[in-house]
Amino acid sequence: MTQPANTAVVGLQWGDEGKGKIVDLLTAKHDAIVRYNGGANAGHTIVIGDQKYALHLIPSGILTPGKICIIGNGVVVDPEKLLDEIRTLRERGVEIGEKLRISSRAHVVMPYHKEHDAALENMLARAVSAGGRDHSIGTTKRGIGPCYADKIHRSTAVRVGDLLRTEHLRRKLETICAIRTVELKALGVEAEPLDAASLTERYAAIGQTLAPHITDTTYLLHELIRDGRSILFEGANACLLDIDHGTYPYVTSSNCSTLGIPAGTGLPGTHINRVLGIMKAYSTRVGAGPFPTELDNEIGEQIRQRGREFGTTTGRPRRCGWLDIVAVRYSAMICGATAIACMLLDVLSGLDELKLCTRYRLPDGTETDRFTPDAEALSEVEPIYETLPGWSEDLTGLTERSELPAAAQNYLDRIESLVGVPIEIVSIGPERTQTLMASEVTVGG
Ligand code: GDP
Ligand code: IMO
Ligand code: MG
Repeated sequence: MTQPANTAVVGLQWGDEGKGKIVDLLTAKHDAIVRYNGGANAGHTIVIGDQKYALHLIPSGILTPGKICIIGNGVVVDPEKLLDEIRTLRERGVEIGEKLRISSRAHVVMPYHKEHDAALENMLARAVSAGGRDHSIGTTKRGIGPCYADKIHRSTAVRVGDLLRTEHLRRKLETICAIRTVELKALGVEAEPLDAASLTERYAAIGQTLAPHITDTTYLLHELIRDGRSILFEGANACLLDIDHGTYPYVTSSNCSTLGIPAGTGLPGTHINRVLGIMKAYSTRVGAGPFPTELDNEIGEQIRQRGREFGTTTGRPRRCGWLDIVAVRYSAMICGATAIACMLLDVLSGLDELKLCTRYRLPDGTETDRFTPDAEALSEVEPIYETLPGWSEDLTGLTERSELPAAAQNYLDRIESLVGVPIEIVSIGPERTQTLMASEVTVGG
């Protein structure tokens, strides 16, 4: 028997590339969909007809009946947000049941993580008024960094499995609350001391509600593979936000490139058969950090309005700019992309000309085609552009790739040859049907 292909879907830029749409599409050809990193900082949008769904923690495969959806050990789970998400989906007629599986070793985002995240960001931003520099990251304030920090600290961490052992949880929280109360006060949070007893009660109750979903997802995944089932890995955040390989320190706190898959699921990398890199036809970024091709002008505003570039999780306006080939080529290299899905191509209709950043000029005047994930160094590069003709046609109703205007086809061809990875999927609108597949592409399995 030939083993079905397992596919990784990963963002090649700074997030919001359209991963949710593509995971939803590829779900049909896979048996299980697994999140391996991040938490409720992710916002994955799926549009099905007149229905729009925004998923933060639950894999985007949940909208297809019968698929197993797994939250792997590498995810940080805010259980209250998760319960909200389950409730909202159920109210809209989406069946959840036991097909949702949560790793007992995933870490729990507690309320004090969110308070810590917000307080630290505020403190870093306030340094400006004292004549300092704004070092805030522009996080989503979902408690992601503090929760992953506790994972590394170990002694102050709470894992999903701990929610099922009330006395153990109480003992842990007694120590943690004493420490966190002092820390939050030092960060300027004026609040009552954290109450271990009420937190224990609240989170043990959540544990009971989630109990039917909690399991050892590592064994589950290995059993699925052994039984010849195919797995779809759903990356959250994106390669340039990866804690090790992104534009540090303006990154998130997990390995969101494909390099995070083995650690975040317990499946060795040899099980990843193909990697679909998701790339917008231009660039966006939310939060702080260097962005060489940023367009702080009318064209940037036009892209923001046409692409409805406002955050799915926080509603913040996204910074917009030209496609940065240097950055995408780097991400494709780090993630091992075997194919690319080019998203939101329709948004570029109506621009007279388009620019692709193919090289950077360094402060010493030399040029490079290498990306640097060092934020200080990246903030000093100057983009060198190649200019291509634009097109005016509306792309949103096309059904075949061959119907694309010549200038749009030329734009894609140029990207493909500069990045060196084939563009197998072109997306021309948010809906499932607004997707052009290369004729030889099968989407999985
Ligand atoms: P994700 O975090 O990578 O899943 O992406 P988000 O959902 O945060 O942001 C992508 C946005 O673009 C969502 O609002 C999608 O509905 C929308 N979208 C996806 N593909 C396309 C496309 O090809 N064209 C347009 N116009 N919108 C798209
Ligand atoms: P999806 O999965 C876009 C960004 C935040 C901030 C930085 C750190 O929807 O593509 P964090 O709250 O993680 O500590 O914030 O990372 N960020 C994202 N930006 N899309 C995302 O996820 C993101 N997840 C984190 O804006 O700059
Ligand atoms: Mg998003």
